[in-house]
Amino acid sequence: MKLFVDSGNIKDIEALAALGIVDGVTTNPSLLAREPGDYRENLKKICQIVNGPVSGEVVSTDVAGMLREGHEIARLDDRMVVKVPLTRDGIRACKTLATEGIRVNVTLVFSAAQALLAAKAGATFVSPFVGRLDDVSTSGMELIRQIVTIYDNYEFPTEVLVASCRHPLHIVEAATMGADVCTCPPAVIDQLFNHPLTAIGLEKFLKDWERAHSVKV
Ligand code: E4P
Repeated sequence: MKLFVDSGNIKDIEALAALGIVDGVTTNPSLLAREPGDYRENLKKICQIVNGPVSGEVVSTDVAGMLREGHEIARLDDRMVVKVPLTRDGIRACKTLATEGIRVNVTLVFSAAQALLAAKAGATFVSPFVGRLDDVSTSGMELIRQIVTIYDNYEFPTEVLVASCRHPLHIVEAATMGADVCTCPPAVIDQLFNHPLTAIGLEKFLKDWERAHSVKV
């Protein structure tokens, strides 16, 4: 399963990319709005850091505006993927961009029916938001299970990109279900490293080594 960073912060992305475990980046208007500087320049910088797809989202809500923005985003770098919301205009824009050979990530997906539409429109990625579903007492991971099954049943090539991940269990469950990608905030990727037995075990190994090698002859 691929691991994407869900962030527009250059320093955070650089630090995680240096670990060699990052396969791509997703951004959204809220994430990019937090960062200083021109968002287009920031997206170009991110493309230099990560050797994989980088999603940049349109903010237009009509198909003509989405296509204009989508073309601008795609021109920034070969790694760019155009993110459009799951609306009627978004699906129309997805179909047109995909036909032109531009990769599209259909976002703000909250049902299996919506995910079916994204696949039929030729999306490269579909982004179901698991954390936001959990927030309203609906199982986000059950949605992932349904989408993976539907895409497998009909061999849709659209990749299931699990978004709005809030904790490591979302990632482990997504991998168990066969999702293609998880996109996670930097803090959640950091949490993947942690296990108390690793820390305790390492401390003991080092102490034992030090004791054996500090014995005076
Ligand atoms: C996905 O592409 C979105 O940027 C993101 O995962 C949304 O996550 P949130 O629900 O934590 O804002």
